[in-house]
Amino acid sequence: MGKSYAARELVDAAVAGGAATLALILDDKAPAPQYAGTVRANVDDLRARPPAEGEDPTRIVFKGHTLRTGQVVTTEEIAKLALELAMLPHPPRVLVHIDELRRATSPSGREWRDGSTPRLFSEGGGIGVSATWTTQTPQRIPAEAFDQSETLGLFRLDGRAVRYLDDLLFLDRRLVATLPTLQLGEWALYRKGEPWDGRVYRF
Ligand SMILES: Nc1ncnc2c1ncn2[C@@H]1O[C@H](COP(=O)(O)OP(=O)(O)O)[C@@H](O)[C@H]1O
Ligand SMILES: [Mg+2]
Repeated sequence: MGKSYAARELVDAAVAGGAATLALILDDKAPAPQYAGTVRANVDDLRARPPAEGEDPTRIVFKGHTLRTGQVVTTEEIAKLALELAMLPHPPRVLVHIDELRRATSPSGREWRDGSTPRLFSEGGGIGVSATWTTQTPQRIPAEAFDQSETLGLFRLDGRAVRYLDDLLFLDRRLVATLPTLQLGEWALYRKGEPWDGRVYRF
């Protein structure tokens, strides 16, 4: 319903505005990249081929899983790289964006596949690493990811997903009624601990 489109706008704005100086983006859903930046298959590929002259050094789009090369990319290796960069003497301001966080979790969605991704959520803020993510199946994402996210952009959701999020986040009644009616590209803002602003946004 427009999640990746909106996330791309956010990542680009974060880099353009200086909130982040390096965006590490996991984007391997479709054959063509959904995000702008220098495309690499995975972290090994990035280390072997750092951005060349004329390539964007501020946005790296990881796009593993190509049929041609058979290379894959995991949320774990990207989270590890971000945590490692944060330890440098002059660290970049890193933003990790994971398109479809579902790929970081077990089939039930109750557990993480690795330790680094949840560390990114729990410790990233304290060491200057931001994380953003999208999901189309909130029920399959550990509740912890919602607890540790300050801001959520909620796109159109069906009744079941709304009930799940409502149990977790105690949503405003008007927001609960609005979510199933949103159109492509429209989203509502949820900020932890704040009342709903009553607005529907669109990029
Ligand atoms: N705000 C928007 N304005 C114009 N086109 C949009 C907008 N949001 C999404 N789209 C288009 O709609 C399609 C689905 O959007 P996408 O972001 O891929 O959805 P999702 O990530 O939620 O599955 C894409 O072709 C995208 O370019
Ligand atoms: Mg998407």
